Amino acid sequence: MDEALEAYIQSHIEAEPQNLQRLDRDTHLRLLYPRMCSGHIQGRLLKMLVRMTNPLNVLELGTYSAYSALCLAEGLTREGAHIDTIEIDDELEDFIREHLKQSPYGSRITLHIGDALNIVPTLGKHYDLVYVDANKRHYPQYYELVMQYLKPGGFIIADNTLWDGKVAEPEHKQSDRQTQGIVEFNRMVAQDPRVEVVIIPVRDGLTLIHKR
Ligand SMILES: C[S@@+](CC[C@H](N)C(=O)[O-])C[C@H]1O[C@@H](n2cnc3c(N)ncnc32)[C@H](O)[C@@H]1O
Repeated sequence: MDEALEAYIQSHIEAEPQNLQRLDRDTHLRLLYPRMCSGHIQGRLLKMLVRMTNPLNVLELGTYSAYSALCLAEGLTREGAHIDTIEIDDELEDFIREHLKQSPYGSRITLHIGDALNIVPTLGKHYDLVYVDANKRHYPQYYELVMQYLKPGGFIIADNTLWDGKVAEPEHKQSDRQTQGIVEFNRMVAQDPRVEVVIIPVRDGLTLIHKR
């Protein structure tokens, strides 16, 4: 997005809470690939989507620095509402736990370290909202898996579904497995009669899916 427009949006939406500003700075200082962090605009959008859907149980695939998990947690209003978030990279565990502890919303979040494809079936829960933001190559598998644990009427939010615009390039240019994963995910969702879907061209593309 144009930098001036981004700055304009940031100054006309809810301010980024101080603990998340600190987390964002710390992510840039201490972690690899800080671009993966949702950031101010998408973070406020995630919180708003939680406010709008008022979920009890939320599942996140791909915690990274816990920025998005904390935004989702901030939006929760129901008594006992909770988030399970799954991260495969155990080197992130200390960083995540440190920031969950520092946040007023950290106690609403349970961190699970491991592969989401293995962990989700062991959680024994059904979810009102699932945020998919892990390995792009496995989006089709994540979709089939989380649909089994999504309540009727529930929502999936999937990030990076425009993948830098690569999804709209000619097929012969889509040689990497990440692009292929996202393209296949978008195709599966668009053709799935169990759901309604919309793609919002915010940041790298955010797909909202409603299970009928
Ligand atoms: C884009 S980052 C997540 C960003 C975070 N949700 C946010 O918005 O601030 C993707 C994360 O998914 C993790 N990941 C990749 N494959 C995974 C898997 N199979 N299960 C759980 N986490 C996975 C990566 O290690 C990485 O930390």
